[in-house]
This record gives sequence, structure tokens and C-alpha cells, in this order.
Amino acid sequence: MVEVSASILSMKNENAIKTLYNLETSGIDYFHIDVMDGKFVSADTTSKMLEYCEYLNSISNLPLDVHLMVEDAKSYISSFLVFEPNIITVHLEAAKSKQELLEWINYIKEKNVRVGISIKPNTKIDEILEYLPFIHIVLVMTVEPGKGGQELIPSTIQKIKELSNYIKQNNLEVDIEADGGINEENVAMLRDAGVNIIVAGSSITNSNNFKETVTKLKI
Ligand code: DX5
Ligand code: ZN
Repeated sequence: MVEVSASILSMKNENAIKTLYNLETSGIDYFHIDVMDGKFVSADTTSKMLEYCEYLNSISNLPLDVHLMVEDAKSYISSFLVFEPNIITVHLEAAKSKQELLEWINYIKEKNVRVGISIKPNTKIDEILEYLPFIHIVLVMTVEPGKGGQELIPSTIQKIKELSNYIKQNNLEVDIEADGGINEENVAMLRDAGVNIIVAGSSITNSNNFKETVTKLKI
């Protein structure tokens, strides 16, 4: 069964408290926090996500899954560590060097937080293989990062299969998380390709019954 990490990116501000409560009781496994800096991607969600994390920390029992779509990951990691997240994910493409990426990985691990590395749809699996022994999760973007409500890019499924085979063949303990355009129709295909955690935003928050939708996603 896949775990469900609910993205609150496309949640409407005016209903935020009610929506967060409905998500909390819907059976999701994590809150997925999409942090954007206006540089790595054009949108900037920094202050909004800091505010939501503060609120979730005070009311929620669920773990936070922080997805940093930012260039200056080091300072963002520090800002979000205070919320004691379960996962912090940085982007491979954001690091200027291998050394910088390894520094981010170590910094997150030192704080006993699970480390994820994310790759955009056009980044090849080969580029991430050398980091697998040092991380907990690969977050494969199934849409271009930057906004919610997009359609899943089919070529990303092949990448997930390739990654999943490599992880099995090398007896590694790395989870695969997929993010973007995931819904009741395509979730089985992702699970079969080897995904353990799916991120779902608009397919949950646009639905009438969160609990029902989450149950259908947890297959
Ligand atoms: C995209 C984000 C995703 C996305 C999920 O940049 O990382 O988490 O918004 O939302 P949906 O499920 O609507 O694609
Ligand atoms: Zn995300």
C-alpha cells in the first residue's frame, strides 16, 4: 500500500483551517509542504508555508514532509528544522556542486530528519545513483515543479521503474516518492512502478469527500 502525503499548495486560504482539519482526519500519512523561493521556481510560497507549518505544529499529530524547491537550501533547511519535520527534500538541480549537495544531506541527517533528494522530469536517474546510499527517499517529480493542478508527465513512469529496479538490485533501503498530477486514475500505475509514497494536492483538495478520496489513493 502506498502512503499519501497531502500537498496543501493549492488549498484556498480562506478555508485553510477547515481544510487542514478535514485533511488531518482523512487518513493521510503526511502533510506535504511545498516551499518555493521565487528563484528555483518562479512562485514564492515561503511565508505562507512557514505560517502553515507553525499552525500545523500546534494542532496536528501528522508528520511533515517538507519539499524545498529553492536554491539556497541550507538556510531553508534551518528555517524548517524548527518544525521537526519527518522528511526534508532538496533538489539535485539546485546544488552547485556534489560537495554542496552532500553538505545539505549531512546537515539534514545530523538533525535526525529523513533526507530526500528530488529530481525534475528531465533529470536522468543516473545522476542520482551515487547519492542513494546516503539518503532515505528519492522524490521523483511527475510534473515540472512550480505549481499544483498539472497533468502527470507519462515518461516519468519509466524513470520510476528504472530507479526501483536499481534500488532492489543493490539491496538499498530507499523509498520512492512521486509528486505531481497524481489522482485515483493513475495511482495504481505508480504503485506498480515502485512508488511507496504519493503526493496528492488538487485531487484531494478539489474533491468533495477527502476521506473517500484518500481511501481510493491508498491502494
Ligand atoms: C509542484 C509541487 C507538488 C504539487 C502537487 O511543484 O511540488 O507537490 O503541487 O499538487 P497536485 O497534486 O495538484 O499536482
Ligand atoms: Zn511537492
